[in-house]
Amino acid sequence: MMKAALMFLQLLSLVILASCGGGKKGKLAFNDYYETANELKVEQQKTNDKYLQDKKDFAIEKIKVWKEINDEAKDSFADVRDIFNKKCISCHDINFKLPFYGNILTGINPVHKHQEDGLKALNFGNGFPFTAQGNPPPIALVKAIRNSVVERSMPIKVFTVVYPKKKINDEDEKRILAWADSVIQKFQDYETKYNTLDQKVDVRAKKILEMKCFRCHANGNARGGFGSMENYDSLLNGKYVSKDSPEDSKLFTIVRDGKMPPNKQDKLSAEEQYTIRDWIQSSSVHPLEK
Ligand code: HEC
Ligand code: HEC
Repeated sequence: MMKAALMFLQLLSLVILASCGGGKKGKLAFNDYYETANELKVEQQKTNDKYLQDKKDFAIEKIKVWKEINDEAKDSFADVRDIFNKKCISCHDINFKLPFYGNILTGINPVHKHQEDGLKALNFGNGFPFTAQGNPPPIALVKAIRNSVVERSMPIKVFTVVYPKKKINDEDEKRILAWADSVIQKFQDYETKYNTLDQKVDVRAKKILEMKCFRCHANGNARGGFGSMENYDSLLNGKYVSKDSPEDSKLFTIVRDGKMPPNKQDKLSAEEQYTIRDWIQSSSVHPLEK
């Protein structure tokens, strides 16, 4: 009985197999195989072409959008330039000529010194992109302006004591924030869309340092005696990085503990902090374990 049932099942499966094979009697002819392989190849080629085309389109779009957001930032500065011209120009505009009393005894003249230091920190004279001695990305300077306005830390006190009308008021703040926030948002969207893919830790870390530290510690600016951060090799081999114990590197602990950058609003996010650590670790003699 059992045997008969088994034989019946075997027979059934044979019938099914034969009907699936159709006219080919279950055997895949060489030609069929060849055609299938060719079709696959054509499909693969199409996919490759599309991938390359997409990549090309993406790169072109990226350049276009970069130009767009920079042009927009350039244009939109006109909305607030009057405030800057009224309240900040004497120290932050390269084209501004100091009155005669600013140009005498330049070695000890505080007016001259304020302009000199002010220009190192921020020059908006030629509009956006703004520049500074440390050569930070211009958007880092927009953020610094935003912070200085929110905290009312600019213009410097010795200046507003003499010119109280040049203090930033609520109306100025409203206008500057509207401008700055919109510019910052566009640059952030750009970063998210075009620059997050396949970036290695060192690229990401360097970007953070450029954004957050260069203003004061690079390209000739050396606040607190610490400069040349743009020279990444000496930075990694210098006294602020510990090769034996990357976690204890001052370059990391100082940002983790929120001591640098000095402005609290500029503090590195946890992700940014650990990017710095991972970068130090990746260059270390004891690469990241665990
Ligand atoms: C009398 C001169 C003077 C005027 C006017 C002045 N600043 Fe400054 N500013 C300075 C000096 C000097 C520095 C650099 C020293 C410092 O950071 O304290 C500076 C630094 C800055 C920085 C960089 C701060 C940082 O964290 O890197 C920003 C941003 C700034 N100023 C914005 C402004 C804005 C906006 C105005 C107008 C509302 C303004 N300043 C008006 C003298 C001036
Ligand atoms: C607005 C200017 C400014 C920015 C931006 C800034 N720093 Fe500083 N930094 C200073 C000043 C001023 C000092 C010296 C005074 C002090 O130690 O507080 C200093 C000192 C340091 C020192 C030396 C400390 C020591 O004990 O020798 C290190 C390291 C440092 N900064 C790292 C950084 C890093 C990393 C960043 C970016 C994440 C950064 N700083 C951003 C102004 C700045």
